[in-house]
Amino acid sequence: MNGWSRRAVLTAAGAAAVVYAGGCTGDDEVPGPTPSGGAPHGLRFPDGFGWGAATSAYQIEGAAREDGRGPSIWDTFAREPGRVRNGDTGDVAADHYHRWAEDLDLMKGLGLRSYRFSVSWSRILPNGTGKPNQKGIDFYRRLVDGLRERDIAPVLTLFHWDLPQALQDNGGWENRDSAKWFADYAEVMFRALGDAVPTWLTLNEPKTVVNVGYRLGVHAPGKRDEAASRTVMHHLLLGHGLAVRAFRDAGTKARIGIALDLAPTYPAEEGDAAAAATRLADGFENRLYLDPVLRGSYPEDVLAEWPGGLPALRDGDLAVIGAKTDLLAIQYYRPYYVTATGDYRVLKPTTQASWQQVYPEGLYDLLVRVKRDYGDIPLTITENGMPEPDAIEPDGTVDDADRVTFLRDHIAAAHKAIQEGVRLESYHAWSLLDNFEWAEGYSQRWGLVYVDYATQRRVLKDSARWYQRVIAVNGLA
Ligand code: FCB
Repeated sequence: MNGWSRRAVLTAAGAAAVVYAGGCTGDDEVPGPTPSGGAPHGLRFPDGFGWGAATSAYQIEGAAREDGRGPSIWDTFAREPGRVRNGDTGDVAADHYHRWAEDLDLMKGLGLRSYRFSVSWSRILPNGTGKPNQKGIDFYRRLVDGLRERDIAPVLTLFHWDLPQALQDNGGWENRDSAKWFADYAEVMFRALGDAVPTWLTLNEPKTVVNVGYRLGVHAPGKRDEAASRTVMHHLLLGHGLAVRAFRDAGTKARIGIALDLAPTYPAEEGDAAAAATRLADGFENRLYLDPVLRGSYPEDVLAEWPGGLPALRDGDLAVIGAKTDLLAIQYYRPYYVTATGDYRVLKPTTQASWQQVYPEGLYDLLVRVKRDYGDIPLTITENGMPEPDAIEPDGTVDDADRVTFLRDHIAAAHKAIQEGVRLESYHAWSLLDNFEWAEGYSQRWGLVYVDYATQRRVLKDSARWYQRVIAVNGLA
């Protein structure tokens, strides 16, 4: 598969062999000061470590037609029959647009120090470009001010997949102008909130847009077009670079970076062929995005796989894409195991999200590798988590023990990387709230906090209470 396997490919292959039931055994063991057979403990994080949680606009906000918001490609896609499980949409979602103050109080109660969210582009610019919608800006101003009042640092993502439909109608990311549209929108946000938001992220997981949105057709806009997917990749990255440039031009005194979903790759079998295929898979999964952003070049071995090259690439683009960033945001959900023929194997336990493989040690490998290969750039983990079919017990609690184990083991792996000198500043669990999980709709619950969609009541899961203690003691006691 040439390193292009994705969540939907794994699903289609019925690869969900073992469902994660918590706990690490054998080579899953997270190293570190772990008492024999026991859970990792006694791990203290550096003072001021940014314990956080993450969400994104379309997944939680709802209020899809309020206060001048224009439609996004996810509004359109979710209405197409068969695209989203049960025909779910983000029309109401977790109703965060109306319940934001309650949600901020909840975060404060958990002790969160950092909150990573995204802005809905079509709330700000209902047609994608043109005159900003003040009501949209006001919403995020209230949110950011509310966070700061509660001593929670805002981490703002500009694009978490919900492209304004009006721009899609103009070719979306296949149109080179999209990079400029994005930078113009970014500039509106820098001018509106640049003083109040200390950390900005341009794009969320461009790789997922490319592969799941344009190759597999499982996410909006639902295309299956290999050539278009490469063009889209380049324009997304160009948009990132232009936004970074606009950020500097605006004189914003904050930091900016990009959020990449990275995955350590390991050979699934012995031998040179598997080692070579693993290296190429690493190219597609990681270097294709890390290299242009952090080194200003595309990886040659990946480009060599594309007979038609990358026609979208023009002189000067890589200098724009490689503009200096201040930090790198990493999202970690799984490793890949690669055979000699370049196919992916499932060798670790999975979850309700059958594309996932649970391997906490992979997070350690990834963090150490990024530092080794890309230098000492400050890092934040902006997503890490797992879904569980959670339910409220008769006593009103939500028992999500597997999530607690998952988070604990990944946090221990992150701690080990910090011990080895990795500049990891913060960790955000995905997600604060149960939410609209894209093509899976509301069928997967990823939150620390349970959302009863019928009433919009929020209920702390056991994992939220556990995380509250982690934050209070600044680590794993
Ligand atoms: C990531 C997305 C996030 C959520 C998690 C489960 O790829 O960025 O929105 O869907 O997966």
